[in-house]
Amino acid sequence: MTVLVSGRGSNLRAILEQSRAPGFPARVVAAVSDRGEVPALEHARSAGVEALALDAARDPSWDAHLAAVLEERQVDLICLAGYMRLVREPLLSRFAGRILNIHPSLLPAFPGLDAQRQAWEYGVKVAGCTVHFVDAGMDSGPVVLQRSVPVAEDDTPESLARRILAEEHRAYPEAVRLFALGRLELRGRRVLVRPQ
Ligand code: GAR
Repeated sequence: MTVLVSGRGSNLRAILEQSRAPGFPARVVAAVSDRGEVPALEHARSAGVEALALDAARDPSWDAHLAAVLEERQVDLICLAGYMRLVREPLLSRFAGRILNIHPSLLPAFPGLDAQRQAWEYGVKVAGCTVHFVDAGMDSGPVVLQRSVPVAEDDTPESLARRILAEEHRAYPEAVRLFALGRLELRGRRVLVRPQ
């Protein structure tokens, strides 16, 4: 798999850590940034994984270029982890059904930027995170798994975001594991998890 990043990379680090566990069915072959050098790439390098600092802003055919880079590496799964960009053609169809994203809300509530603050300001009592397949929309593809996080009376957007992030770090490697074991079955918008 390859992990696409734009910044901090804590989800990338969680996936790298889990994928080193004995018996984990997938490994990260490269981490790719669309914003040049970012802290996330350091996590890849220190795990001995190829780290590509690319610059989408300067590349008018970014999604075609990226598709070629990933096909060259025979990547079978793309994980977006804090990758702050919509996936467009031709990347989308060349990797149809093989792109996952993580989002820090219980989708379809609070897509887009600053989801944890959106949830806190709305006043929900349960927040969480979602791993989903990627389609052409923003945070809108079929849901693979969700983890909930209760919102406490004394939470701030920051404290809530920290607890959601801890769940993200468990949820994303689990979704990758299910994908790599071939246990995810896409039926329209619904993702069924096949028993072992
Ligand atoms: C994570 O909270 C992830 O869910 C969110 O960006 C953060 C990246 O953190 N993604 C989105 O909001 C996508 N719409 P990380 O770089 O430490 O993994």
